Amino acid sequence: MEIVITPDAESAARLSAALIAARLRGKTDLVLGLATGRTMERVYACFIGMLRRGGLSCSACRTFNLDEYAGLSADDPHSYRSFMNRHLFDAIDIVPAWTHFPEDEAEGSRYEALIRQAGGIDLQLLGLGENGHIGFNEPLSSFASRTRRTVLSQATRQQNAAMFGGDASDVPTGAMTMGIATILDAREILLLATGRAKAAMVAEALEGPVSASVPATALHWHARCHVVLDQDAASGLRRRDEYDWTVGHSPHWIDLLAACAT
Ligand code: GLP
Repeated sequence: MEIVITPDAESAARLSAALIAARLRGKTDLVLGLATGRTMERVYACFIGMLRRGGLSCSACRTFNLDEYAGLSADDPHSYRSFMNRHLFDAIDIVPAWTHFPEDEAEGSRYEALIRQAGGIDLQLLGLGENGHIGFNEPLSSFASRTRRTVLSQATRQQNAAMFGGDASDVPTGAMTMGIATILDAREILLLATGRAKAAMVAEALEGPVSASVPATALHWHARCHVVLDQDAASGLRRRDEYDWTVGHSPHWIDLLAACAT
């Protein structure tokens, strides 16, 4: 795992978008695993700008979103499909039929089959829940879990209440989510966390013991996982000098950071 700490949330988003754009430049039919949440809004805004400036196209891409609330119609403004349309899909040349969500409550295995048919996910984006969830894999989700229906924790409903007008009781109690094992199948993973509210969980997820109580710790089992943080989210890390040193001597990150600075 490599941890890149950027000066602020904007540069964290720019670096994340630059990594996606670099992978798209290398493979026009990229299969992307996408995430939602406030952290991702900035990433998608930067990515749209990079596509335009770089003359890049998503017309051959396929996307698989991590999760979706149960019981919301696709056109409900609170659904993750609506979120993705608003923040990314409506602004790019992606084929709508090639954007997928785990909407069908009965059929997690069908979603897994669709991912396999697309050749597997090349790059999976992840945000981090304040309780350590990835996707909607709440604490104690099995590291072997696959796409399925889950129950949202009270902490998650509280955390996401702002997007439902502020009342946690309006946040659905259930969701469909890729499982942790599904996420770990991706060929490359990028986890992004910003803001002080994430600092304690970032430290637990990255430096704490691997445990199903903190689902994001499963990422230590992935051979190609990158983490991008801003200063606030990184503020609880104990060994950040070592992470900075590694990144400062990694040609991959030096090139990407330089590309972002221009
Ligand atoms: C939701 C999503 C997660 C996301 C998390 C972070 O719970 N299901 O996939 O990672 O939010 O959200 P935010 O970026 O708003 O903090």
